[in-house]
This record gives sequence, structure tokens and C-alpha cells, in this order.
Amino acid sequence: MSHIVPAVPAARRGSPIHLKPAAPLAERVLLPGDPHRALQVAQHLLDKPRMLNHHRGLWGYTGEAPDGWPLSVQSTGMGGPSAAIVVEELIGLGAGTLVRIGTCGAFDPALELGDLIVAGEAISADGTSAALGAEERVLPHGGLTAALARAAWGAPAPIASCDLFYDQRPGQAKGWRARGAIAVEMETATLFRLAELRGVRAGSLLAVSDLLDTSPGTSVRSRERIAREGLEAVGLRLGEVAYAALSTEKALAR
Ligand code: HPA
Repeated sequence: MSHIVPAVPAARRGSPIHLKPAAPLAERVLLPGDPHRALQVAQHLLDKPRMLNHHRGLWGYTGEAPDGWPLSVQSTGMGGPSAAIVVEELIGLGAGTLVRIGTCGAFDPALELGDLIVAGEAISADGTSAALGAEERVLPHGGLTAALARAAWGAPAPIASCDLFYDQRPGQAKGWRARGAIAVEMETATLFRLAELRGVRAGSLLAVSDLLDTSPGTSVRSRERIAREGLEAVGLRLGEVAYAALSTEKALAR
């Protein structure tokens, strides 16, 4: 048997490998990490949502938003490598505006569980954005971030993107905090870097799902986690606020 795998048939060239679109993709896309949040946000915001993708368990939906424009909600899965695949394929399918709606662990003692944060920049502490050539900090789209900040009633702030949710290394969170980050998550730097490379617009709106202890000697193991009902409610709020930002932009463009 030959070890040579036959080339992809011409008809499939250019179609994505991991997403299998079963409905049209909207130009604007909300990106939760969690597939279940994608379903809930789609049911909450969209008229007659249609399944966009279920391949790989990465649920995605497209429907008409209340402003009359199509909107897609596509889960990225967890971490930079999965997010990079999904975002790259969405851009290939025509997405031009991508807003992450995810959760984060907060270091800033002023933050509480359920608070929203607009990422003003992402410190690249993850392998994926670094592999994509990110320098220390990666920036989102300015206009989109300003619209998110208006909708969330909060100024954009630096966050860090990392590779480990269960990080055992003492001092990590403290180090990110010393570099100005108020919270950590796992996908934003990859999204911002890919958007920068491919010339599309990206923003990130995060909800605090964990309060992390950064006192000397502690590792990111020490956390207070949001309750399940709180997480579901904040997931819908993330969708509402991100959609409000997108729809005011549409209204301004009219
Ligand atoms: N670490 C990394 N990513 C996260 C966290 C965390 O504590 N909480 C939510 N996303």
C-alpha cells in the first residue's frame, strides 16, 4: 500500500477541513469557547437559528438578529490551537467581524464573579499566538473595542492569554498582573493575532468566572469559581452586550 495520501479533490479545495457549514455564515460572528453557550446565545438572540456547524462538537448557529442583519454564533473550543483552527476557517468562509464572548479568571481584587471585561490588549503568554508571530502584546480592532466598551459600560483593559487553565506554577498570575493584566483566559491573543494577520476586525468581551489568588507563593490552583446558574446567566449577558455593540455599529453605518 502506498504511503501517499491522495490529494484533496478539487471540488473540496478551499472548503474548510474542520467546520462543515450546513447554513450560510454571517459576516459578523460571536465566538464563545463553549458549544453550549453558542446554543444558548443563538436561541436567545436569533430568530429561527439554523445549525451552522456541529462537526467536532463545535456547535455553531446562524440566524437573523433583532436589527434585521444575519448573525452567527460559533464555538471555538478551548485554548489557542482550537480557536486558531475555527477562526482561520471562519475567515476563509467570509467572516469579517469576530467577537469572542468568553470567560476569564480575574486577578484584580476590585473584580467580582460575573463582571464583564472588554479586552483592550492581550498579553501573549500562550504558544499559539506566539507561533503566529505575536509580540508581547496583541491589539484588537479599535472601533469595535470602543463599541464593546460603550455597550459594556467599562473601559478596555489588558488581559493575558495563556495555555493552562490548571496552572500549577507558582507566581504565574502574579507575573501577568505585574505586566498590567487584570485577568487571564486562553483564546483572545490568538484571535487578535489572526485578525491582524488576515485583515479582519476582532474584539473580545469576557466575563469573570473565576477569582484567582495571586498572593506570593500561590499557584493558579487557588480559585473561587462562579456557580453554574451564574455562568449560564452571564453567558447570555455576554451575548446581549456583544450583540448590542455590533448592532450600534450597523446603525451608525446606515
Ligand atoms: N485560567 C485560564 N483561563 C480561564 C480561567 C482561568 O482561571 N477562567 C476562565 N478562563
